[in-house]
Order: sequence, then structure tokens, then C-alpha cells
Amino acid sequence: MTTRSPNTSNRRDELRESDRPFVRLNLAITADGKIATANRAISSFGSKHDLKRLYQLRHRADAILCGATTINAENADLGPAPGKPAYPPSAGSRLPLRVIASGRGHLNPEARLFQRAYGPIVILTTRRISAARRRRLESLAHTVKVCGAREIDFVSALRWLRSKWNVRELLCEGGSQVNGALLAADLVDEINLTLCPWIVGGRTAPTLADGHGVPDLAHASHWRLEQARRRADELFLTYRRLRQQTGLPTTD
Ligand SMILES: NC(=O)c1ccc[n+]([C@@H]2O[C@H](COP(=O)([O-])OP(=O)(O)OC[C@H]3O[C@@H](n4cnc5c(N)ncnc54)[C@H](OP(=O)(O)O)[C@@H]3O)[C@@H](O)[C@H]2O)c1
Repeated sequence: MTTRSPNTSNRRDELRESDRPFVRLNLAITADGKIATANRAISSFGSKHDLKRLYQLRHRADAILCGATTINAENADLGPAPGKPAYPPSAGSRLPLRVIASGRGHLNPEARLFQRAYGPIVILTTRRISAARRRRLESLAHTVKVCGAREIDFVSALRWLRSKWNVRELLCEGGSQVNGALLAADLVDEINLTLCPWIVGGRTAPTLADGHGVPDLAHASHWRLEQARRRADELFLTYRRLRQQTGLPTTD
């Protein structure tokens, strides 16, 4: 099953006009809307098709963003598919930047991320980071950038990524705290969801976006279903942000 909206917007124009990157989220969620089990032990429940889509999205990104907890939990290197040559495939392009959000610098220095020679590593942090952690991370990463007092100011961080590193397309791979901060600042343009045939339950299991949430639908962000594709028991969904005030959904 594949459906595609006829109203596909012209992303080239969006990119030209914007002073920040186009931001795309990618996540696998269970049928009950969780991105990991409550004890955080399991977060990979997608099929090989889901993994393939992740690598495709990484491949087209100028930068890949991930939260510190996800890096520590999954030991992700944010690189290409195993066995594939490190991108970029074409002359003139460059390896995607690997951007980590870590307000206090709570990152494992032994993480695989620091051991793989893929794209440069940029750590977005805040003034809460200790001097010792900052020095340690500066020895491991290309840049440690302070972007706020207590919380990362993603508006200025994304502008900086665009102006300093020419990041035009950014892929965010979670987790829910990073997603929540980006969504709260209305910085997400596209969401790629793989809906997986598992139910895990758990009141405290993380969902797509944590944070304070909105008080009512009038404050909720509104999305258009751009594409829906079924592969075996999984649904691959792509949503695009509707930025004009459309009010509450209608029934037609
Ligand atoms: N199913 C999926 O597709 C999927 C994808 C990704 C992750 N996951 C799972 O989700 C879980 C992790 O999600 P999570 O929400 O706990 O963590 P997260 O978003 O990965 O990382 C949270 C950490 O990132 C930093 N951070 C995030 N936003 C910040 C901000 N606005 N300002 C300052 N620092 C900020 C902080 O680092 P410091 O502690 O250094 O301050 C914070 O502790 C894991 O279990 C992971 O496996 C699942």
C-alpha cells in the first residue's frame, strides 16, 4: 500500500529561504506509541527495512543529530551501513556532521562514536557543563559549542549549523528529549515514523516527544500525511509540518 499527497511542497524553495536546516526526524515506534521500553533496555524493534530507511536518510543528510542518552544507550556511531563504504559517494560532497546534544556533557568518552572516523563531531552543550568534561570532550570532538545557559537553544544552534557548517538538511534520530525540544521550538519540518507491530506498554516508556506537552489541540502542531507505505507488518509514514494556522481538524 502506498499513498502520497498531491501537495508535495517544493523543498528547494524552503531550503533557500530558510536560515536554518530543513529538519527531519526519524523514529521507530511501537503500535502503542513508544520508542523504547520503560527500562530503556529495548529500543530497536524495527525490521531490516526500517534499518535500511535509516541508512538512506543518513546518506542524504548534511548532519545527523542525536541526544546524549541515545548515544550512551545504543553506542551509535551515526555512520553508514555496515560493510558499505563511508560516504560521501560523490566528489565535492562531505561526510555528514555528527551533532550530539548534551547539556551537561554526560557522554561516554569510550563511545564508538568517538572511535569511528566518519563525519566531524560537534557537541552542542550549555553552561552547565563542567570545565573537566568540556576539556575531555574538546579532546574527542571537532567542536564543543555552548548554546545556552541551562537548555540548548536549538534556534540559535541550528542557525549556527547552517551558517558555519552549511548544514541544509539535518536528520534527528532522537531520543524523545531532543525531539521534544525541537518540536517545542517548532523546528521540525518532516517526521518519518516506522510503526512497528509490537505493544510494550509502560507509563514511563519514552514516546516520540517528551517535555511539558500542550494544554489543548489549539496549541498542538498540525501535520499532513505525505506518504504511507506498508511493508509486511510495518507502516512507513512521512508527515510534513503544516505551518499555516489551520485551526482544529475537520471531519472531511
Ligand atoms: N525507537 C527509536 O527510533 C529510538 C530513537 C532514538 C532513541 N531511542 C531511545 O530513546 C531513549 C533516549 O531518549 P531520551 O529522551 O531519554 O534521551 P535523548 O533525547 O537521547 O538524550 C537526552 C540527553 O540529551 C541532552 N539534551 C537533550 N535535549 C537537550 C536540551 N534541550 N538542552 C540540553 N541538553 C539536552 C541531555 O544531555 P546531558 O545529560 O548531557 O545534559 C539529555 O540528558 C533511549 O532508550 C533510546 O534507545 C529510540
